[in-house]
Amino acid sequence: SVLSVSDHICGMPSNQPRFIFSRIIGGEEAVPYSWPWQVSVQISDEHICGGAVLAKEWVVTAAHSLSLDGVDHAGLVFCIRHPHPYKSDLSLCLSVKQYIIHPSFNKTTMDSDIALLQLAEPLEFNPYVGPVCLPAKEEAVQPSRVCVITGWGAHEADREKGRKLHQLEVPILVLDTCQSYYINLPSKVTQRMICAGFPLEEGKDSCTGDSGGPLVCPSEDNSGFYTLHGITSWGLGCGEKSYPGVYTNVGVFVDWIKHSVNSSGMYEKNN
Ligand code: ARG
Repeated sequence: SVLSVSDHICGMPSNQPRFIFSRIIGGEEAVPYSWPWQVSVQISDEHICGGAVLAKEWVVTAAHSLSLDGVDHAGLVFCIRHPHPYKSDLSLCLSVKQYIIHPSFNKTTMDSDIALLQLAEPLEFNPYVGPVCLPAKEEAVQPSRVCVITGWGAHEADREKGRKLHQLEVPILVLDTCQSYYINLPSKVTQRMICAGFPLEEGKDSCTGDSGGPLVCPSEDNSGFYTLHGITSWGLGCGEKSYPGVYTNVGVFVDWIKHSVNSSGMYEKNN
């Protein structure tokens, strides 16, 4: 059973993704339109973060993307662009009516790094723009499952953000193991986070600009649906050995997401 916030079919790429190197940084360019929920969250025409479409009026992103210091949000317009953030002919830029930062979000620890954007007008779903599926409540993704991260973030640790959407397959890591990697750092990995990546290797990870973007896992029965299990959140550097990428654990927040979306009166839940 696939869970969607709206009654639209979710998690289905219209172009089947293809993995050539099977292996953001260390990733590869995505086939156009293979990730129809991926959006770019922008402020004044500048890409700041990724995001994922949940329903016609709702996009999920990282809370830290929206809590920028010294920015007066009252005067801001957030734009959602898809699929190419820097080519206006292929983008649609919609303003955001409201955003909801998770009440437990902690800027210092990055705990509960999740926020919802409500668009001022609904997106039109088509083969290129569509929602991702949500996990079941409290559903945890199993370690060693191979999932996918996508984003327009930097391709090398110190480089500028990428122009083309990149993808990378990443295995989910055991939380305990991940916590031990970060044990000596002030930033702690909590139960509301999941880790994914290649801690024994260098150079394959999400990076600056990928934050807020989706970590999706293919359905286990190979039916071709993708479920949003993570939101790119943080990590020490990018692609450094022993410091895998850390993602918001979406399963923990499914109730909050549904409650926030439904209490806005826009959508009925449907299974
Ligand atoms: N926090 C960064 C951003 O705002 C990137 C997070 C991913 N980092 C990592 N090493 N996986 O875009």
